[in-house]
Amino acid sequence: QAKRVTTRDIRARKGGEPIVVLTAYTTPVARLLDRHVDVLLVGDSLGMVLYGMDTTLGVTLDMMINHGRAVMRGSDHACVVVDMPFGSYQESKEVAFRNAARVMVETGCSAIKLEGGREMADTIAFLVERGIPVMAHVGLKPQAVHAAGGFRAQGRQSEEAAGIRADARAVCEAGAFSVVVEGTVEPVARALTTEIMIPTIGIGASPACDGQVLVSDDMFGLFSDFTPKFVKRYAQLGPIIDQAAATFAAEVKARTFPAPEHCFGVPKPPKI
Ligand code: KIV
Ligand code: NA
Repeated sequence: QAKRVTTRDIRARKGGEPIVVLTAYTTPVARLLDRHVDVLLVGDSLGMVLYGMDTTLGVTLDMMINHGRAVMRGSDHACVVVDMPFGSYQESKEVAFRNAARVMVETGCSAIKLEGGREMADTIAFLVERGIPVMAHVGLKPQAVHAAGGFRAQGRQSEEAAGIRADARAVCEAGAFSVVVEGTVEPVARALTTEIMIPTIGIGASPACDGQVLVSDDMFGLFSDFTPKFVKRYAQLGPIIDQAAATFAAEVKARTFPAPEHCFGVPKPPKI
């Protein structure tokens, strides 16, 4: 039985070898990624990537738990972190604990992630003190898209930049074991990485972050509703799947699929 990467292992990587993180939502993808990454993040991005939602706001706790269980079944190496969806933790630290405890117990994951900085510090401390490791998420916060007036890079103005740096310090002091820094101008992401004692995991942030995360379907070229500037396409699986479906359709129509070797009870042709 292999030992999983722990949140303590991740915490200890501050300033060391960069931490590799990808999202996973299903068992087969978790199996493919498990050996390559330190953390598998079951992100609420699944609302957009798997379910065709326009934002992550419609994702429910039950969806996160079901996909969290699927990713746990497909992995035995990576530290699995499950996102808390919108509405499951903002109301109070007690509600946050109850819902985070459900995620931990029902999935068996190692930690939860929630969006927020200074405003979530009390909640983070409450969860951490009661045994739930927390990954925080500052900068661009997709669950706050309506308040922010759209998806745009954060930290261009000095006041906004100071706010993000204060957020990062607050979640660190509250006991988060790491923090995602999303959609934040490079110098700000770089600066806050040196200012806090926990690893920063960048996405649209800086190569100076202590680790990097991408949405796996984005980098596989599977999700193409839109492609943010910070996504690098490491593969183009979309056209490959398109081609496979087209060939299948053509063979079904031509009755060349299934061939005898795909059928039961068809005698093999004699060997000559
Ligand atoms: O939901 C998600 O996939 C995330 C990552 C992009 C950090 O929060
Ligand atoms: Na998320």
